[in-house]
Amino acid sequence: MPLIAPPLSLYVHMPWCVKKCPYCDFNSHGVKGAPPPYADYVDVLLADLDADLRDFGAAVHARAVHSIFFGGGTPSLFAPELIDRFLDGVRERLPLIEGAEITLETNPGTVEHGRFDGYLAAGVNRLSFGIQSFDDDKLRRLGRIHSAKEAEAAVKSAQDAGYANINLDLMYALPQQTLAGAQSDVARAIALQPTHVSHYQLTLEPNTAFAANPPPLPDDDHAWAMQEACEQQLAEAGYGQYEISAYAQADRRCVHNLNYWRFGDYLGIGAGAHGKLTVAENGAVHRRWKTRLPKAYLAAAGDAARIGGDGPVAVDELPFEYMLNALRLIDGVPLADFAERTGLPIERIAPALEAARQRGWLVDDAARLQTTALGQRFLNDVISAFLD
Ligand SMILES: C[S@@+](CC[C@H](N)C(=O)[O-])C[C@H]1O[C@@H](n2cnc3c(N)ncnc32)[C@H](O)[C@@H]1O
Ligand code: SF4
Repeated sequence: MPLIAPPLSLYVHMPWCVKKCPYCDFNSHGVKGAPPPYADYVDVLLADLDADLRDFGAAVHARAVHSIFFGGGTPSLFAPELIDRFLDGVRERLPLIEGAEITLETNPGTVEHGRFDGYLAAGVNRLSFGIQSFDDDKLRRLGRIHSAKEAEAAVKSAQDAGYANINLDLMYALPQQTLAGAQSDVARAIALQPTHVSHYQLTLEPNTAFAANPPPLPDDDHAWAMQEACEQQLAEAGYGQYEISAYAQADRRCVHNLNYWRFGDYLGIGAGAHGKLTVAENGAVHRRWKTRLPKAYLAAAGDAARIGGDGPVAVDELPFEYMLNALRLIDGVPLADFAERTGLPIERIAPALEAARQRGWLVDDAARLQTTALGQRFLNDVISAFLD
């Protein structure tokens, strides 16, 4: 089964935050003392990109980039001039498709006046705000550095600067949150008229302050009731759910994240960033990730020490990896994509597919891979059925 190279995107990790939030297990580091070397970091990002392009040669050569995502950490700690310099560097090295989606994650507590104009001028055309909640008491418990009013003002200021494409991240099932509290957060998000809402259930992640000292969280049944009520509220306001946690107005689905969920390719540069590349010549799906600690990543300055690990994904693991992404999509994917993106024949997953359909987890459609409502609720079990 020949592998066909899917669309290529670029993920860029910015590892610093003003302060580490107690629930967060992202590769993010609170700034203590002197400011981080932001300008040096941009130079090292470009050196990392150069080295990846050299290493992967023909697998990336002349492939157009469909989207760029600055994730964190808190990318909005970087001044617009640095984002501009970086994006110019990318354009010199890789062709970008016309109108490529370029997203920058933003903490509402970090945006000084004028920054949004600068990011827009640099080419950023989508902002993603980490809002989490519009309840000041909840924001305090989450260790956030902004109030609800400041978050609303930041979003309005981005809209005034001319951004037509804005995502708001909300979390639900917060400490001692009620159903009405979760719905009130969604209502305030909708009132700001973003184009996209990401609605995540707060999870206790290992090695976080919350895991060490867990706050009282709503139980699973209450969390599910919040998810269902908020999904309906968002649908009524014109935000269709297209992934477990993602809701968008028509034509505003996130191009970058859709590429992950469809098992597309992406280069990952920056501390701890992950990349995935289809190397059609040798029929392999290759993964590479970068060393996590910003200090070590900076010290590597684009040489081989920047690589935390890499290698082809074992054939036995490909069905699970594929499902881990594709089954998150509410509409699923054409079944034929499985063979195109993994290089494996459909027969390889036929018994697991049949079993999942019999349990009512997958829609009974021979041409599509798509979960039922029951499958969405028990998504982890469904995906595990594809473990070799
Ligand atoms: C990298 S952060 C976004 C930008 C910025 N760092 C901020 O927090 O404002 C990505 C998003 O992941 C979500 N998130 C982080 N930790 C989470 C957790 N433990 N459970 C659920 N969602 C989480 C939050 O909604 C957060 O906005
Ligand atoms: S949630 Fe965002 S701001 Fe908080 S520590 Fe994680 S990446 Fe940083």
